[in-house]
Amino acid sequence: MSDFDFFSPPSPQEAERAQAYLKQAERDSALIPGLARDLNTRDVRSVAIIGAGTMGGGMAMCFANLGLPVALQDMTQDMLDRGMQRIRDNYQRTVDGGRLDQAVMDQRMSLITPTLEDHALTQVDLIIEAVFEDIEIKQNLFRKLDGLAKKGAILATNTSGLDIDEIASVTHRPRDVIGAHFFSPANVMRLLEVVRTRDTSDEVIATLMDLGHRMGKVSILARVSPGFIGNALLRNYSREAQFLVEDGAFPHEVDAALTAFGYRMGIFAVHDMAGNDVGLHTKRKQILTRPKDRRYTDLIIALCDQGRLGQKTGKGWYRYEKGDRRPQRDPDVEAFLISESTRLGLTRAPIAHQEMIKRCLYSMINEAAHLLDTGVALRASDIDIAYVTGYGFPADHGGPTYLADKIGLASVYQDIADYHARFGVWWQPSPLLERLAREGQSFAAYDQQRTAARQQGAKA
Ligand SMILES: NC(=O)c1ccc[n+]([C@@H]2O[C@H](COP(=O)([O-])OP(=O)(O)OC[C@H]3O[C@@H](n4cnc5c(N)ncnc54)[C@H](O)[C@@H]3O)[C@@H](O)[C@H]2O)c1
Repeated sequence: MSDFDFFSPPSPQEAERAQAYLKQAERDSALIPGLARDLNTRDVRSVAIIGAGTMGGGMAMCFANLGLPVALQDMTQDMLDRGMQRIRDNYQRTVDGGRLDQAVMDQRMSLITPTLEDHALTQVDLIIEAVFEDIEIKQNLFRKLDGLAKKGAILATNTSGLDIDEIASVTHRPRDVIGAHFFSPANVMRLLEVVRTRDTSDEVIATLMDLGHRMGKVSILARVSPGFIGNALLRNYSREAQFLVEDGAFPHEVDAALTAFGYRMGIFAVHDMAGNDVGLHTKRKQILTRPKDRRYTDLIIALCDQGRLGQKTGKGWYRYEKGDRRPQRDPDVEAFLISESTRLGLTRAPIAHQEMIKRCLYSMINEAAHLLDTGVALRASDIDIAYVTGYGFPADHGGPTYLADKIGLASVYQDIADYHARFGVWWQPSPLLERLAREGQSFAAYDQQRTAARQQGAKA
């Protein structure tokens, strides 16, 4: 096993190199192989957002900030009122902090029109839905949009991970359908994952990428696959962290290792902040169909069943004093974890911080290789920039694949192969990682070779 020290911070020179790499990664993410450079984008002069909840409100602000009129639709007046109030409060905080003029705020607010009517949807150039994360609800909505939207309108979904091909399939215009995966809070977070389906037209892809850049976001292009790029890595990271607390660690220990590595918050504190019930409906549904050949953890569902939704209920993986967001160890959670380990027939044993970091990070690195191999991600550097801008990965470490190159892929691969032998299917090494390790290659070299091959292909 490698003895890379995850806890000695990168030197100033190393951190500078990582930051320079990320700047280049951001520039590269805008280049989409196969798309003509002079491709016309569609003219987007007006937008409709469906769903005035957490995401819809933030997305409406992003477009209003660009000066575009936005129709914001929801099902009830109450939902609309609440959504508009959240937007107003958000802008007001920026004005109160001296970062926005009141007049600019008023002008932006005037661009957002709340509506219950479908008529607003018939006129706009781009519609993005941010309704509940449920495939049937989204398919019904897209059926309706197919009948309502004007010809040439782009139909986008903000789904966190549903199959957008399935959503597009209910329309007669799948070439106009695309994923526009904003992150929460949408008006703040810099990452935008643009998700192309098997049918999305080049023009629509280029339009969404361009809109993202105009908003000042890092737009990366992904293909449809469970969790796309970002949430696919997160799923592995989060699952491994939960296995660690079933195997013998406590949440505060895993989080301490992660913050010592460089994360500003550990994964359990993040879950408590985001709400453990995010995606709960999908998780419950998945239990019914998941393969029997591997280990699962349902700790997060169990916590939700106990009312431990996170900060918003004052308890989650940690407990919280009223008005204080600092996580405190909770003996009840620790007792629950011990009883869960016993119930699952697991013998709890101490786990070193180094091992905790490896299991969390290497599960992401293996997934990153898998996403490259299957064409879900275009470049290793796209994955890195996504992870740094959208998921809090410490920038001085450059991103999961940059770090893997620094450790050495032979060593990373060896550890993953050992974990595979110890822990089973989840750790099945990616064939690409195995090949790169065997050939003494790096992710960076892989990116370079692919770019060169694409340029050759374009010339031929
Ligand atoms: N919250 C996040 O962190 C986050 C991040 C990225 C993506 N997403 C995705 O964004 C979408 C919305 O998530 P959210 O957190 O904003 O949810 P939310 O519950 O805060 O808001 C959803 C809103 O949609 C409205 N709605 C539901 N069905 C509707 C319909 N048919 N017509 C009009 N309005 C309807 C609801 O009344 C509600 O106001 C989901 O697909 C989610 O997976 C969420």
